[in-house]
Amino acid sequence: MRIAVSRVIPEVGLNLLREAGDVTVWEGELPPSRDELVRLAEGADGLLTLLTERVDGDLLDRLPSVRVVSNMAVGFDNIDVAACTERGVAVCTTPDVLTETTADLAFGLLLAVARRIPEGHNAVRAGAWRTWEPMGYLGPDVHGATLGIVGLGRIGQAVARRARGFNMRVLYHAPRRRPEVEEELGAEWRELDALLAESDFVSLHVPLNEQTRGMIGREQLRRMKPSAVLINTARGPVVQTDALLEAMEQGWIWGAGLDVTDPEPLPADHPLLRYPRVVVTPHIASASFTTRARMAELAARNLLAVLRGESPPRCLNPEVLTRD
Ligand code: GLV
Ligand code: GLV
Repeated sequence: MRIAVSRVIPEVGLNLLREAGDVTVWEGELPPSRDELVRLAEGADGLLTLLTERVDGDLLDRLPSVRVVSNMAVGFDNIDVAACTERGVAVCTTPDVLTETTADLAFGLLLAVARRIPEGHNAVRAGAWRTWEPMGYLGPDVHGATLGIVGLGRIGQAVARRARGFNMRVLYHAPRRRPEVEEELGAEWRELDALLAESDFVSLHVPLNEQTRGMIGREQLRRMKPSAVLINTARGPVVQTDALLEAMEQGWIWGAGLDVTDPEPLPADHPLLRYPRVVVTPHIASASFTTRARMAELAARNLLAVLRGESPPRCLNPEVLTRD
């Protein structure tokens, strides 16, 4: 079998693929362009992609031999799943293995913004910090505060568990109530507007789709407390960037911690980056040694299972597997 991989990924994944077939890997530091990807994957049976590759009908039509697209990510907004299904192409993802690592970073950003850790670090590095300041670097307490979680899937739940250790009150919003996890997590359901109004910290854990694109805009940010902090480790376009900038300008919220942005990357001269209480990380929520290795391994296993006619561990459109 022939397999194309759109970037260098942890060895454990590449080794599994190499044991099974002919593997071509895009060695660039930046993602391949569409033409480069087509050249790389010409004649391939399986394509291992990252969230930086847009997979749609046009790409698949240019790569008619591909039978599986295995995305090394939990999110799959980069993939037109319907177009894949129409063409009988299986789509696989890597959920679960990154849940705890992603929740760790969400909590890390929350602490970093509230306790102004990057700001303090930058001051020390710049020689701008001269003495202990009774009035310097004040921020809101994390422990005992109210955390509003938007999207109570695996990652949202893992964030809720961390919040309990900080003795936080946990609210959540999800399209449907989750009574079975409410008790375990000590979480209370709220309408989105009520959650925004009551929370000291709001953390987003929804997938990006037509329902969630731009769901946090001016109206939502204005409902938040002026002392509140917004955390986004989901997908950049869930938050309207211009509205967030206005929220910082107008003092509608106190700060934001963003692992994802729209656009991504945010240009270095973007006005949002002028606010010391806006902390931005480069889409690294799953970036632990162990988790990235597990994602690569699962992505490889998914891909190989489809090509071998076995049932892949995590497939979004298993109906294509049973077709002739
Ligand atoms: C990363 O953003 C992922 O979806 O895995
Ligand atoms: C994301 O996959 C989530 O389950 O929250």
